[in-house]
Amino acid sequence: MKNLEGGILKRVNIGICGLGTVGSGTFNVLKRNVDEINARANSQIEITHIGARRENPLCDTAGIKVSRDIFDVANDPDVDILVELIGGTSVALDLISQALRNGKHVVTANKALIAEHGNTLFELAREHKATLSFEAAVAGGIPIISALREGLAANKVEWLAGIINGTGNFILTEMRDKGREFADVLAQAQELGYAEADPTFDVEGIDAAHKLVILAAIAFGAPLQFDKVFTEGISNVLPEDLTYAQDLGYQIKHLGIARRRDSGGIELRVHPTLVPSAQLIANVDGVMNAVLVKGDAVGSTLYYGPGAGSEATASAVIADIVRVSRSIGVASDNHIPHLGSIDSKLQEPYVLPITEVETAYYLRMSVLDRPGVLSTVTQILSDAGISIEALVQKEPNEGEPHVPVILLTSRAIEKRLVGAIEEIEKLDTISDKIVRIRVEHLN
Ligand code: HSE
Repeated sequence: MKNLEGGILKRVNIGICGLGTVGSGTFNVLKRNVDEINARANSQIEITHIGARRENPLCDTAGIKVSRDIFDVANDPDVDILVELIGGTSVALDLISQALRNGKHVVTANKALIAEHGNTLFELAREHKATLSFEAAVAGGIPIISALREGLAANKVEWLAGIINGTGNFILTEMRDKGREFADVLAQAQELGYAEADPTFDVEGIDAAHKLVILAAIAFGAPLQFDKVFTEGISNVLPEDLTYAQDLGYQIKHLGIARRRDSGGIELRVHPTLVPSAQLIANVDGVMNAVLVKGDAVGSTLYYGPGAGSEATASAVIADIVRVSRSIGVASDNHIPHLGSIDSKLQEPYVLPITEVETAYYLRMSVLDRPGVLSTVTQILSDAGISIEALVQKEPNEGEPHVPVILLTSRAIEKRLVGAIEEIEKLDTISDKIVRIRVEHLN
């Protein structure tokens, strides 16, 4: 194959570290689609070195150098791009740092590492005139990083909201549609290779928080601020809430939300959220991910696709390999800034504490089935300036004096709502804690 100028294609050597779910997908797709990939990269891409603790029977590594010590790949002078697919934040941090110090470009799918150490690693990459690319770190196969960084470069992004953890979305969908147990669906997500090595990252929202800060940093031209994200997982979402929400015309989705506030500052939050069923994103089910981005010029745009899985994530890894291969030989001053804005201009915006955030709410409470009880509840909410948009009282169970009551409230600042809930919970006509889920209309 000839390059664009009719000469010989420049050769780009790839070292892959990690041959697990994403590593094996990357290896096999690179081999299978080599002609298309080389043509797009304007390069001859070769896998020359694999670093992996063990063989993967899915990968035929004959003729390729294989090292059990992954640092051999970072120190191999023939490797141009190191692809880090081992995950975690300790060895991976050392590996990537070593590769960058050796002047290699790095491609990674490691969202935890980028979210927690990206600011430092980008600096290191700049010092060594290398690039660190991470398209696969967010939303698996959806090219959301390049959409935000390049495709929407004209826009002031007002907000974005995403289903950015496939495992969590898979669990909520199976619980709602098939009445399956949480633990049973999680075990299946692990078998399918969707879940993190530590699945609490999926169910407690940490994985989504990692991805959200990366998206927010690009959307708002800000440094990564992982420690500022408010994070709530899905482990407390009960099947009855999924059903009650559906009856009211909503779906419960685990969303990562980043919003620029007119009054200054940004919101960064991950939590279960009621979304109107009429919204496209409310209908994104199973392991699929979707990110809704509102730009001031373009309006609302939605990006949808598989958020996890071997070849889906490999698709994003290889997109980065192509992008980096194209840039090899181009003056490093012309490389795309890591977070899409000139790095020296990045300012750290104020992140609002969750108590200052305003949303509407779904409330479920267990109320003594007696006249006058509900009017006391609505009075407390009204005294806090919170009105009620919908109220449903369910049938009591046989012999049970309490009935479930579901309320949808108007928008309110969280601390006001929390104050009202505390007062309601003190009533002796209310049993149990009140379940509270935030509601977003996303328009
Ligand atoms: N555990 C992650 C998820 C994998 O379920 O979305 C992809 O990042």
